[in-house]
Amino acid sequence: MSSPAAIFRLMRAGWIMTREGVISALPAEGLSGLPAFGHRMAGLLARRRAMTAQRSERMSRAINKLGPSYVKLGQFLATRPDVVGTEVADDLALLQDQLDFFPMDASIKAIEGSLGRSVSDLFVSLDEPIAAASIAQVHPAFVASNGDIKKVAVKVVRPGVRQRFNNDLESFFLVARWQERYVPATRRLRPIEVTRTLAQTTRIEMDLRLEAAALSEIGENTKDDPGFRVPTVDWERTGRDVLTLEWIDGVKMSDIEGLRAAGHNLIKLAETLIQSFLRHTLRDGFFHADMHPGNLFVDDEGHIVAVDFGITGRLGKKERRFLAEILYGFITRDYVRVAEVHFEAGYVPHRHDVASFAQAIRAIGEPIHGQPAETISMAKLLTLLFEVTELFDMETRPELVMLQKTMVVVEGVSRTLDPHFNMWKASEPVVGSWIRRNLGPQGILVDAREGAQAVLHLARQVPELVGRADRLSKELDRMAEHGLRFDEQTAHAIGKAEARHTRSGRIALWVIAICLVIITYELLS
Ligand SMILES: Nc1ncnc2c1ncn2[C@@H]1O[C@H](COP(=O)(O)OP(=O)(O)O)[C@@H](O)[C@H]1O
Ligand SMILES: [Mg+2]
Repeated sequence: MSSPAAIFRLMRAGWIMTREGVISALPAEGLSGLPAFGHRMAGLLARRRAMTAQRSERMSRAINKLGPSYVKLGQFLATRPDVVGTEVADDLALLQDQLDFFPMDASIKAIEGSLGRSVSDLFVSLDEPIAAASIAQVHPAFVASNGDIKKVAVKVVRPGVRQRFNNDLESFFLVARWQERYVPATRRLRPIEVTRTLAQTTRIEMDLRLEAAALSEIGENTKDDPGFRVPTVDWERTGRDVLTLEWIDGVKMSDIEGLRAAGHNLIKLAETLIQSFLRHTLRDGFFHADMHPGNLFVDDEGHIVAVDFGITGRLGKKERRFLAEILYGFITRDYVRVAEVHFEAGYVPHRHDVASFAQAIRAIGEPIHGQPAETISMAKLLTLLFEVTELFDMETRPELVMLQKTMVVVEGVSRTLDPHFNMWKASEPVVGSWIRRNLGPQGILVDAREGAQAVLHLARQVPELVGRADRLSKELDRMAEHGLRFDEQTAHAIGKAEARHTRSGRIALWVIAICLVIITYELLS
C-alpha cells in the first residue's frame, strides 16, 4: 500500500512540474474531459516566466528541483520514446546531469563504510571532487603501489541517494498503478513494468561494483582492439559505494579545440569511435550505453578511453544478427531481406505481409541512396526504421532502442569531430567482416561445429553427397532448413548465402561441407 508520505511527495512533484510549466508543455492532443481541463488549468497555474521557456528548459529546471531520482527518471524516459513519444524523449535527452558537490566528510564516510578501512590507510591522499552528478561524484586521489605513487579516480555514491530513490520509487509506482487502473489507453505501455525496469537499472547504477565489472568485461573484450581502451579497475579500493580507477590524463571529446591543440587526428578519431562502438555491439554484444563526449577521453597516444559504465546494453546473438542484416540490407538495397529478418526474428507478427513491409522499408531506404554518403545517418535510419516497424506492430525491444539511442549519440560525436564523416564507409570494415564471418561460409562452419548432431546428420549422406556435387549444395541447404540444429536465422542465412553467392561462394560451401564430413569421420573412427 502507498504511504501518505508517497502521496505527499507526489503532490509536491506535481506542483513543481505544474509551476515550472512542464505539465502544460506536454502534448495535449487526444485529451478530453477532465484531463483536458487539467491540462488547461496547469497552464494557468504555471509561473509566467516558465511559460516563455522551451519545454526542454522547463523540464530541466523542474527536474533539478525534484532531485536525483527525477534526473534518473528523465534520463530513463529519454531512452523510451515508445512510452513518452519521440518529441518528449528528445527533450529529455538534453537534460544535463550536474549537481552540487557533497562535502569531503561525507565521501570519506562513504568510502570507509563501504571498504571497512580508513581513508588514510587506502590512499596517500584524497583530493577535492572534480565532478558531481545525481548518483556519484569523482575525486582525484593517489595510492602507493610497489613503491610508486599512482594517480587514481575515486567515484563515490552520493550519501542518502539510495534511500531517496527508494522513496521516490514508491511515488513512481503509485502513478504507474493509477495509470493502469484509470487510464486503460495507456495500459499497452505497461507503466508498472517500465517503472520496474527503471528501478532495476538505477539500482545497478548505484552499485559501483557492477560498474567495475562492466569496465573489466569491456576491458577484456577490447584488449587487442586498435585505438580504444578503458581504465583499469583497482578492485582493492572498490566496493558498493566506491569505485577506484586508473586516472586518465587526456582531453575530453567534448573539447574539440583541445583535441586539435593536442595534435590529435580528428578524422581518424571519428572513425575509430564508430568502429569501436560497432565492434562492441556486433562482436561482443555488450556496449557502453552512455557514450556522450563527456565520458570519452583521448589520451596522449591518441587512444579513445571511455569512462562511466553505469549504463550498459547487451545484445544477444539474435539481435546482433538482426542488426547486421538490417544494415547490410540497407547498404545493398535488399529491402525484402530487411523485411524478412524482422519476421524471422519474430519481431513482426506473421499476419503482416512481407511485401508490404518491404515497401515501407523501401520508402526509408531509397531516399537515402540518392544522397551523398556523408549526409546519411545510420542512427537516423534506425530511428525511421523503428517508426515504421511500429506501424507493423513490432513490439518494442528495449535493448534495440537503447542501441539506437546510443548510436545517435556516437554518430553525433563522430560528426562533430569530422563534419564530412561518412558513416557507411567508416562502419563497413566492422559490419562487413562481421557479416562475412557470421553469415558467410566461415559462420556456417562455426555454427556447425557447435552442433555435433548436425555434423553426424551430414555424414550419413556422404556417398551421395560426394558423388553429386550439385545435390550436395541442395542437401546442405535442405538440412540447414530442417535437419541441422542451427537456429532459424542461421538456417535461413545459409539458404540465402547459398542463393546469393557467386560460383566461388558455392565452391566454398562445398569445401566446408566436405571438411565437415572428414571431421565427422575423424570423430567417429
Ligand atoms: N578514470 C578517470 N580518470 C580521470 N577522470 C575521470 C575518470 N573517471 C571519471 N573521471 C571524471 O569524472 C567525471 C564523472 O565521472 P563519471 O564516471 O562520468 O560519473 P557520472 O556517472 O557521474 O557521469 C568524468 O566526466 C570525468 O571528468
Ligand atoms: Mg559521466
